[in-house]
Amino acid sequence: MFRKLVSTIAASHIGFLRRYCIRTNTAKSKASNPAKCRALGQPTSETHPHLINPDEVTPLITKTEYQHRRCQLIESIMQKAIKTSEYQKNHLVIVSGASKQYMSDKIPYFFRQNTDFLYLTGCQEPDCCLVISIDESSNEPCSILFTRDKDDHAELWDGPRTHPEDVKSFFGMDRGLPMSEFEGYLRSYGRAFRDLNLWYDFVTPSQKNIHTSVCNFMSDLSNKKWENPRSLIHKLRLYKSPAEIALMQKASDITAAAFVETMSCSRPNIGENQLFAKIDYECRMRGAEFLAYPPVVAGGNRANIIHYINNNQLVEDGEMVLMDAGCEYHGYASDVTRTWPVNGKFTSQQREIYEVVYCVQEELIDLCNKCPTLDALFESMCYLLGKRLQEIGLISIQPSNTYLMKAAYQLCPHHVSHYLGMDIHDTPSINRNIKIEPGMVITVEPGIYISNNNKSLPKSYHGIGIRIEDDILITVNGPVVLSRKCPKHPDEIEKIASENQS
Ligand code: GLY
Ligand code: MN
Ligand code: MN
Repeated sequence: MFRKLVSTIAASHIGFLRRYCIRTNTAKSKASNPAKCRALGQPTSETHPHLINPDEVTPLITKTEYQHRRCQLIESIMQKAIKTSEYQKNHLVIVSGASKQYMSDKIPYFFRQNTDFLYLTGCQEPDCCLVISIDESSNEPCSILFTRDKDDHAELWDGPRTHPEDVKSFFGMDRGLPMSEFEGYLRSYGRAFRDLNLWYDFVTPSQKNIHTSVCNFMSDLSNKKWENPRSLIHKLRLYKSPAEIALMQKASDITAAAFVETMSCSRPNIGENQLFAKIDYECRMRGAEFLAYPPVVAGGNRANIIHYINNNQLVEDGEMVLMDAGCEYHGYASDVTRTWPVNGKFTSQQREIYEVVYCVQEELIDLCNKCPTLDALFESMCYLLGKRLQEIGLISIQPSNTYLMKAAYQLCPHHVSHYLGMDIHDTPSINRNIKIEPGMVITVEPGIYISNNNKSLPKSYHGIGIRIEDDILITVNGPVVLSRKCPKHPDEIEKIASENQS
């Protein structure tokens, strides 16, 4: 699955990469499972057989897949180096994991791994680091995972840490080293290979100690060059593997079922916090770890605050609820928005606007068959919303389509799509002006927002804020709506939302 090989690369230049991948894939997969001997710093098939199968590092993602991702990164680096005549050089890639963040004193926030690091390693522990060296002389890349040093006292509080000796067999790395050897490793590497190309994200460093060490290392080197590997990693993350698609499908299924439960418990005067609690509970009960982001649970006019997350008001009779929520399932996110009448019945104005958003969203999903750019999809949204709002008399006749689209943009001031994956706004270094391709997952999320302060539309429409958002996998056979199990037709929405009205 070496995608998009640059034809100008002579086979001999990449031959060693292929040998490397084959060697690591076969040799490491036969290694015994270290968790039989001692616990690691994350779930294994021995400690968590209900979550992880043998040979998987994280649920559904095997050691071989992680090795393959590292091979692809090495290949991308070599391709780029060849283009700039630097493939002869030594390349050192450093991707650090995240550190724990603290709420106060010794109270941590839930730990969230740096997703680029997680994508390449599967390592879920804080304060670790991946180093890949590609040396001119050795002719074979070497992946090293630095893990936290053993510390009996800290482990008493926080649980076991992965021992460097277990890194090879569990993660399929070439070497495991304790973090205390990181600086020494860099120093000796710098002495051995003075002509060095460093691949490290200086712009968004994810670990303070690593960053300091790397900065010191670079300032001591005479013949050095620096590049950021972030966009190369994001280009890999942009295309989902079958295992990733299965995880994202499951995340969407869980979110859809949780939405149905949440809509059906609606009634006037329910608290936004109660709806928040309900969706969170229903997602976790179906196996999700947590919600992928702070959800928007906005009753009535609050739906017009795009990033409303206070979620502390009551939703009154006659108002709608806009809920933007999605779960994270083993590292993969879903991102869904539905809007429904809290009393189970749309008013005629609510339904009129809802139908506009609903029809435009369906048209936009259909447009994905043509593999547009996300920016082109946004332009289509403005045009389609403009046309439909003109049909119902809420936008006046405009001198041109440009004016029409501008008028629609006043009522939907956000983009219509972003990439989705391990992060909600996934792979942010990838521009939205590239054509979408099979394997990518995107959102399609048009909306119409008419706040109580709107000066140009009739009062009867004030306080209406509607967004409909689905997660779409692009395939060779067209778009597949991963969140298709989440109802959105207005009749279906009314039916579900009216189930438990007293
Ligand atoms: N939930 C964030 C977004 O839709 O972009
Ligand atoms: Mn979204
Ligand atoms: Mn969303």
